[in-house]
This record gives sequence, C-alpha cells and structure tokens, in this order.
Amino acid sequence: MCGIVAYVGQKEAYEILINGLKRLEYRGYDSAGVALLNGSLRVYKKKGKVKELEDFVNTKEKKGKTGIGHTRWATHGEPNDINAHPHTSGNGRLSLVHNGIIENYGLLKETLQREGHVFHTDTDTEVLVNLIQEIQDRDNLPLEEAVRLALKRVDGAYAIVVLDREDPDKLVAARKASPLVVGIGEGEFFLASDATPIVEHTRKVVYLNDEEIAVVTRGEGFQIKNIGNEVQNPAIHELDLQINMLEKGGFDYFMLKEIHEQPKTIADCMRGRFNAEEGWIKLGGINEYFNRISKAKRIIFVACGTSWHAGLIAEYLIEDLARIPVEVEYASEFRYRNPIINEDDVVIAISQSGETADTLAALEIAKQKGAFIYGVVNSVGSSIARLTDAGSYIHAGPEIGVASTKAFTGQVTLLTLIALHLSFKRGAISKSYYRRLLSELGNIPAKVETVLQNNTKIEYIASEIKDKTNALYLGRGYNFPVALEGALKLKEISYIHAEGYPAAEMKHGPIALIDEQMPVIVIATNQSAYGKIVSNIQEVKARKGVVIAIVPEGDTEISQMADYTIEIPETEEPLSPLLSVIPLQLLSYHIAVMRGCNVDQPRNLAKSVTVE
Ligand code: AGP
Repeated sequence: MCGIVAYVGQKEAYEILINGLKRLEYRGYDSAGVALLNGSLRVYKKKGKVKELEDFVNTKEKKGKTGIGHTRWATHGEPNDINAHPHTSGNGRLSLVHNGIIENYGLLKETLQREGHVFHTDTDTEVLVNLIQEIQDRDNLPLEEAVRLALKRVDGAYAIVVLDREDPDKLVAARKASPLVVGIGEGEFFLASDATPIVEHTRKVVYLNDEEIAVVTRGEGFQIKNIGNEVQNPAIHELDLQINMLEKGGFDYFMLKEIHEQPKTIADCMRGRFNAEEGWIKLGGINEYFNRISKAKRIIFVACGTSWHAGLIAEYLIEDLARIPVEVEYASEFRYRNPIINEDDVVIAISQSGETADTLAALEIAKQKGAFIYGVVNSVGSSIARLTDAGSYIHAGPEIGVASTKAFTGQVTLLTLIALHLSFKRGAISKSYYRRLLSELGNIPAKVETVLQNNTKIEYIASEIKDKTNALYLGRGYNFPVALEGALKLKEISYIHAEGYPAAEMKHGPIALIDEQMPVIVIATNQSAYGKIVSNIQEVKARKGVVIAIVPEGDTEISQMADYTIEIPETEEPLSPLLSVIPLQLLSYHIAVMRGCNVDQPRNLAKSVTVE
C-alpha cells in the first residue's frame, strides 16, 4: 500500500509534494521519490522515510510547477533507491507513480522486452510506464489516450498519476481498486491517495471511481472519462476535514493522541443517532433498509485485523441482544473458500480505511451472490463505502497511527447501536433493558475519560513488563475479542509476541506456557463470569505467572490476587469492551515507547493494506 501525491498549477510543486508525502507516510514508508518538470524532467528517489528524501533533495534543483510524488510500501522489488517511485519510461519522457499491483506485469514485460524495451528495476510499475510509452509512440497519441489503452491491458489494482515531459501542463490519473482523490483549485489541481495532503489547499474534491481516468490541465479544467472512453460527470464533494485533525496536537505520537480522542470520537459516533430519554435510535443507512437487515436469516461480518475483532464483539452483541445468527469471517479467507451466501443474508464489512483489499474483495463476492451489503467505515468516500448498498460512517476522523484505536471503539460503538436497534425493533429484549443499555451508552464517553486517568499507573506497569518476550491476554464473553485486540496492539507496535485467548481455553494448551516470565493480562470486568475468572487467575498464579488484571472499580477479590490491578468504571456487560480495551491500548503504547519502537509506523506494517 503506498501514498501518491501530485500537483500541476502556478505554484512550485516540490513543497506541496514533500509536505503531502509526509501526510501520507502512514500508508507506506520504505522509500520515497518525486519527479519535477521544469522544461527538463528531474527524478529524485531514496530508500527510507520521506525525511531521507527531503535531505537528499535539499541541495538539488527543485524548480517545477508540475510534479508527482510517492511514498512506498514494497510489493514487487525490495525497498531500495532504484525500485522507489516515480518510474520513468525508457525514452525519458514519461514519469509515473503507482499504488497497487499489476498482476500480469510478467507477460507485459516479456512482450515489451521483445519490442526492445530495457528494464532497470524489479517493479511492476516500470512495466506500466513503458507500456504507456510503447502505445504513445506507436500511434503518436496524447498521454491520456495512451494511458487508457494501456490500462485496458492491465489486470490488477492501480492508482496512478503520469506526467509527460512534452506536455507539461497536464497530469493524467487513473484508479482501479486503489484510492485516488482529485483536488480542484483555482487553475491548479492536486491528486493524492486520500484527502489529507489536499485539504490545506482546497476543499473541493472528486473521488475517482474504479476504471476512471482523470485529465487535469494547468490554468484550464479537468475531465474524467471511464476506460471505455465515455465522459463522466463526477460529483464534486466539499471536504470537512480540519487541518488540526491531521496534526499531533502536542502528543508525542498520533497513536497517543488518538487514544485520548476516544471520549470525543465515541460521542461523535453516537451524535444524532440515539436519544436515551426518548428511547430512539436513528441510523441513516440502516433505517432505509431496516427490514432487510432485521429479517436477515444470517448476518456475516467480513473484516481484517482490529476490524475483525470489532466484528467478533458485534457477534456477541447481535446474538445476545437481537437474536439474529451471526458469523464473523476473516475477509482474506472468506473470499477464497467458496462461501455459501444467500440472498437473505446480510454481509457487513467493517473497515477503518475502507480500502483493505481483502475486505473489498469479500464484499464484491457477497454483492455478486445477491446478499445485501452494508459498510461500517471511517474513511468517507472510500472504496468500500461506495461499493456497499448502504452504510454508516463512524466519524472518528483521520486515524493516522497504524495501530487502530479510536476507529476500533468507533466501530464497536456503531455496532452496539445497530445491535440495540435490531434488538428493540425485533422485540428481542425488554424495553426496560433496552432503555438501560441506551442510557448507559450515553455515559460511556465520560467513563472512557475516567479510564484514561489510569495512564500513570499503566505506564508503571509497562515499565515492569517491557522487556518480556511473550504475553498472554485472557478474557471471557464480550471481553474475549478484547483480549485478542489487546494482544494485537502489543505485538504490532512493540514486537513482543502476544496471544489472546478465551480465559477458559487456557487449560487446553496455553497454560503450558505460563511461568514467572509470562505476563498474563486478564480482563475481568464481566460480572457474569467473575467467579470463573477468579479460578483462571488462581491457575495462573499457581504457575508463578505475572497477572495484570483489569477489574471494575472497588474490586476486592481479584485485586488481592493479581500482581497489578487497573480499575475501570463498571458498566453494562455488553458495553464493557468500550472501556476494557482502553488500558490495553495505553499499555501497548507505553511498552512500545519504552522499547524505542516507532509507534505510529511500526516495522513491516502499513495503515491500510490495499494489496493482497
Ligand atoms: C490494527 O491495529 C491494524 N492496523 C490492522 O489490523 C487493521 O485493523 C487491518 O489492516 C484492517 O484495516 P481496515 O480497518 O482499514 O480495513
């Protein structure tokens, strides 16, 4: 998954590009590059983060009012200077940046080599730029027509921007399965993988759809055609992103900022969607299709990573409260296992980025098989948001840290509202319980604020276990998915191996791992299983495990047994994940910082996995 940014207009392009790449670095950061057009074409590219590129270019000629830039997460060809984008055609005339995978690049490369093209990199992208050149030269075509004909021969995913040294006022962009946004200024145009590099320059944007090609021309206008050469009439959207949402706001890392944003983002997710006093829930996307969802024979969630954990919580919520059968599927498995999907199924995709390739593909299969498809998404205008029959945005704002925190609690909040809405309309729970849950949901943002006050204690606990090499997370019921999420947070940012397990499952294997070197984080907030969790903790202590317990405020029994205790406010059991996950986010954050890890950009990871 990579980040693309491009500019054509009256300003110098370089500063726009380099600042844009910094905003996109969360999408990939193993190498970066820019191409600048000022009569001649200059391409600068370096392995490493955008800062390395900036230092490299500092002493170089940077003039040019047309330019393209790229920050890479390698898919073909190792991260190094030569494989970094932009890639230039063999005749030195075209330069191209690409996010995606050209699946048939091998065959195309062989064909081009037979026609005399010489390749210098291991990338699929270099094949694409030379294919465009081949077509342009053969028929002496304008850039946009050569791009269109080339893309008709391409299988795979792409978001590209191409510039032509002989046509400096123009940029050509295209997308299929990878996102691309066109920012419309006064006689100037900005293109990027998402809106974050664009919003400080213009709020008018067009979201390119699959197999659409945009041509933007300095001082003139823009045109969008589809790959069939039919002129499109795109909707122009007004961005509502605020710049400060993209800054760290005084926090050391975006992840810490986003953890502390959660009281607000959970409240934002609920705003206007329920009224505890009057007892109503209104979810735009759901209300229109409510009967279809309420009468579903089965609800299938498809997601990846943290979003999959949110789906597991939704399974507990919907089956417990609304009594509709639920399945939760890893999208990457679902898409290839020839799943049974019926027309009376509802398939719900959960995705922060709305661009995760596996989730998108799973959704497309569901759509082809006639299921009603719904999206729970954070990124407005994203591919998943635009593919679904309906959906709800979680309104968590841009989540920059690779480790998902506020998006997770936003997803769980929205899924809780969906479960409650379904349960009440289906008469599956009593009105009094429904009202009690709704009222308590309104208290959650303040209770999250209270949990965050444990930060100092959690930082101390982090210092005590930061050098461990393994960790076990245990939870029951609604807190079993939270145990999985806590383990994922720890491993993805601190690189400590961690596993989440249902607490009762420990005796079926993991207990063999427990010794005085093994921290065991036990989420013990469910009153319904309290006694059983006490037994699980005793089993851990009997084997000298180090127990860190998340318990309700005022707990006396487990607090006496555990080595460390984090008290959080009590809440209704179905709502407990929204509180019990917070200490685990902070614990992983502090451990990662103490271990000198790059919390916002952990090694090998990208914020959105838009390739398989
Ligand atoms: C979670 O912290 C990770 N960043 C990762 O597991 C993520 O949840 C997963 O890649 C799914 O991303 P999505 O929500 O954007 O689809």
